[in-house]
Amino acid sequence: MHFHHFYTFLIIFITSLSTTFSQPHHYLKPPSSAVNVTPQESIELTLPLSTARLPLPPPECTLYLLENSFAYTYSQPPYTVLYSPPVDCPPPWSHAVLQLSGEIAGNQYDRIAGVWLSGVEILRTSTPEPSDNGSFWYVEKDVTKYSSVLEQSNISLSMMLENLINDEFTGIYNVSLSMLFYKDDVIEKIGGRKLGLGSGSGLGLASESGVYEEPADLVIPVGSEGSHGYWFRIENESEKGIREIAIPMNARKVVLELYVSYHGDDEFWYSNPPTEYIEMNNLDSSRGNGAYREVFVKIDGNLVGFEVPFPVIFTGGINPLSWDPIVAIGAFDLPSYDFELTPYLGSLLDGKSHTFELGVANSISFWLVDANLHVWVDENSAEVVAMTGVSEPSEYEESREYKFKQLDGSFEIEAERKSQSSGWVNCSMGNFTTTVTRKMEFENSVEFQGAGTQKTVEQKVKVKTEVTVVAENGTVISSTTSKREYPLKLSTSTTPGPEIDTNVMTTTISNEFKEKSSDGNTKTTIQNSQESEGSMLVKGHSVLSGRAVTRQTLSSKGKSSCFSRTAEAVDGQLLRDESIVACSSLNEDHHKLLSSW
Ligand SMILES: *[C@@H]1O[C@H](CO)[C@@H](O)[C@H](O)[C@H]1NC(C)=O
Ligand SMILES: *[C@@H]1O[C@H](CO)[C@@H](O)[C@H](O)[C@H]1NC(C)=O
Ligand SMILES: *[C@@H]1O[C@H](CO)[C@@H](O)[C@H](O)[C@H]1NC(C)=O
Ligand SMILES: *[C@@H]1O[C@H](CO)[C@@H](O)[C@H](O)[C@H]1NC(C)=O
Ligand SMILES: *[C@@H]1O[C@H](CO)[C@@H](O)[C@H](O)[C@H]1NC(C)=O
Ligand SMILES: *[C@@H]1O[C@H](CO)[C@@H](O)[C@H](O)[C@H]1NC(C)=O
Ligand SMILES: *[C@@H]1O[C@H](CO)[C@@H](O)[C@H](O)[C@H]1NC(C)=O
Repeated sequence: MHFHHFYTFLIIFITSLSTTFSQPHHYLKPPSSAVNVTPQESIELTLPLSTARLPLPPPECTLYLLENSFAYTYSQPPYTVLYSPPVDCPPPWSHAVLQLSGEIAGNQYDRIAGVWLSGVEILRTSTPEPSDNGSFWYVEKDVTKYSSVLEQSNISLSMMLENLINDEFTGIYNVSLSMLFYKDDVIEKIGGRKLGLGSGSGLGLASESGVYEEPADLVIPVGSEGSHGYWFRIENESEKGIREIAIPMNARKVVLELYVSYHGDDEFWYSNPPTEYIEMNNLDSSRGNGAYREVFVKIDGNLVGFEVPFPVIFTGGINPLSWDPIVAIGAFDLPSYDFELTPYLGSLLDGKSHTFELGVANSISFWLVDANLHVWVDENSAEVVAMTGVSEPSEYEESREYKFKQLDGSFEIEAERKSQSSGWVNCSMGNFTTTVTRKMEFENSVEFQGAGTQKTVEQKVKVKTEVTVVAENGTVISSTTSKREYPLKLSTSTTPGPEIDTNVMTTTISNEFKEKSSDGNTKTTIQNSQESEGSMLVKGHSVLSGRAVTRQTLSSKGKSSCFSRTAEAVDGQLLRDESIVACSSLNEDHHKLLSSW
């Protein structure tokens, strides 16, 4: 995503891109000249908020939160208004849904944005690049898990969306936010969880142990002070986002929810070659450092969480024509990641402040990270006693194999990390021991051929998390397992275009999010697969012309409800978008769809 156009453009002018090295990168779609035409809706395929009630019934009440035109907002503080819950329908509510609607016309890059309530991030999102006739879009997110913050009065509601306006980039992002409050339980839960909303994301990243079945009593932000957004901007591995936090003495459960996005030289971190390749070939780029990144969470210097994030591709990424009008998985509602930290309560319940730290291993500029600490308290006691038992330092293994000769070569990285933590919490409900095990496997290969004109990236990330809670008498209170996989394949080839300084690029992208989870009784599966092929004529960062085909299938299967949505877009037109709410033969259909690709 572009924060430094002027700088980047300077580089483009003095470098003629004859190799694919700089690809994939982000581009600007052809400018829209249209006046008085119909703008097009840009869409992300997400699971519906309720499969039982499609579409959602009208809410009990709707609260308009803010409306703003994000014009020249570069390096300005977030747009902030005062928030109070609706007077006409006071809490409690069964559900709260944040609704964003946006519109844009003209010429503009995609932008990253964040929404915070009293410093607690409730949405990380990015924008479409305007299509020919202008674009509009909607994002809906179940934010019930932030209820304890939503119930507060006179707190700040902020949205940050840095944009640049000049003669060339004319697009102003007009955004409005509303909150929909529901009093009935219209949002169906599957297996004790909201289908596909485990961590509040349409991606379907399910949370460990159904952690948000009941919203936390307290949500504490782990972020910065807010003048440049409440996120930490991480420029490199040695830079950390730090916040001192004291946990209430009667906390009985803690979950840290991490928000993350990557930009600048790390926007496509999963396709970065090692720095040696760039230096040996005298390439004018700083997008190196290899292709492995890991976001980590530390408490008092001890590693308590790690995550290789799902690769979200923004709408200017790789080939912007691929994301018109169907955007990449997660682009409008970036996933957040949950870490069950209850086993660590033993070292947190001392009434003192503890250092919470976020960082990104191997990172280069820049990453935007922050987190929310969801805390559940024991209302019947002033002090809860807890003890951390096992807290094994995580085991990490890595192998790298780098081979290259001039511009051709292959770079392979494999990594694996395992951790285990366990601890008991003695509260008024009983004495419970929580055990969390987590294993991450990572494989990445970046290959250059044809004197650097062809690039292929293949990545696989697998994460398995198990959480069990056992009562003192040995009864297993809950046992949940979640297995996720994020396979990604990209290829780009570049040939010189018909005019000087132009290139023809052909791109193929295949990205997928898969999850299987079980809470002992109910199994839930989610599969979100997207494939795109395209070609484009580019000059610098600008796409002069091109075409693309994008197909996507999103399906989920729970105990009593299933959902499937299939869409196809060709050259900027949505040709197909069908949803089915039915379990019968879903898997068969799903296989058929996938194998027909
Ligand atoms: C733009 O609008 C014109 C006129 O309404 C229409 O013919 C054309 O198909 C639109 N283009 C796109 C990409 O939707
Ligand atoms: C955005 O809002 C401004 C007024 O603030 C309006 O002039 C402009 O037409 C709007 N843009 C779009 C694309 O609707
Ligand atoms: C919020 O602020 C307004 C205006 O200052 C005030 O009238 C109101 O009492 C405040 N509400 C709460 C709950 O503090
Ligand atoms: C990391 O980034 C910070 C902030 O830009 C900078 O002050 C520091 O020197 C950098 N450290 C390294 C090792 O590059
Ligand atoms: C454990 O919790 C129970 C219920 O709150 C309490 O009665 C008991 O004293 C606690 N035990 C210790 C050692 O704190
Ligand atoms: C809670 O349970 C654990 C494991 O059974 C035990 O070791 C610990 O002493 C218990 N704590 C209290 C306060 O009873
Ligand atoms: C064991 O403890 C749990 C939680 O305190 C309780 O619900 C369950 O009935 C107990 N089981 C037995 C066999 O005592």
